[in-house]
Amino acid sequence: MSAQGVNTSRRRVLVAATSVVGAVGAGYALVPFVASMNPSARARAAGAPVEADISKLEPGALLRVKWRGKPVWVVHRTPEMIDALPSNDPRLVDPTSEVDHQPSYCKNPSRSIKPEYLVAIGICTHLGCSPTYRPEFAPDDLGPEWKGGFHCPCHGSRFDLAARVFKNVPAPTNLWIPKHVYLNDNTILIGEDRGTA
Ligand code: FES
Repeated sequence: MSAQGVNTSRRRVLVAATSVVGAVGAGYALVPFVASMNPSARARAAGAPVEADISKLEPGALLRVKWRGKPVWVVHRTPEMIDALPSNDPRLVDPTSEVDHQPSYCKNPSRSIKPEYLVAIGICTHLGCSPTYRPEFAPDDLGPEWKGGFHCPCHGSRFDLAARVFKNVPAPTNLWIPKHVYLNDNTILIGEDRGTA
């Protein structure tokens, strides 16, 4: 065997040995992790509530958090945004939230616990795209009556800043409002309400 052949063989052996050690090491690392995630723990983690820190959420801004694999929006509505909501009512499909897409404590004009914060699931009720946040008033592409809201890029559905759907768009219903509760002034727990707002 040539010197080069010996080196090549040695290298192969070394590579194989390293791979075995790596596999064993990875196996040891995985065992406790997998053991700690039995099926019921994984199920709980998948549906577990999540906390949203709103301490730095500026008026007019939107915060995205993920809950059960879905985007959830928290919008800090300005006083102007809140004041503009009733003017949308005549152009909405369900301005008073008769369809049960919100917890009972959010069946109100702002669809929220506190008027200054909207918490909504960011999935269009047409075919499931995630609408775009469009907080501006009367932008060219959305028209002079637009008072801020959400525009779905897939087929053009529109929702106001209470996540209520406008008439004459493909989406049939308002966006969903998830269960949530304020743990304190800066923290919202999404996915749980402890039976009360
Ligand atoms: S998925 Fe939003 S308009 Fe079709």
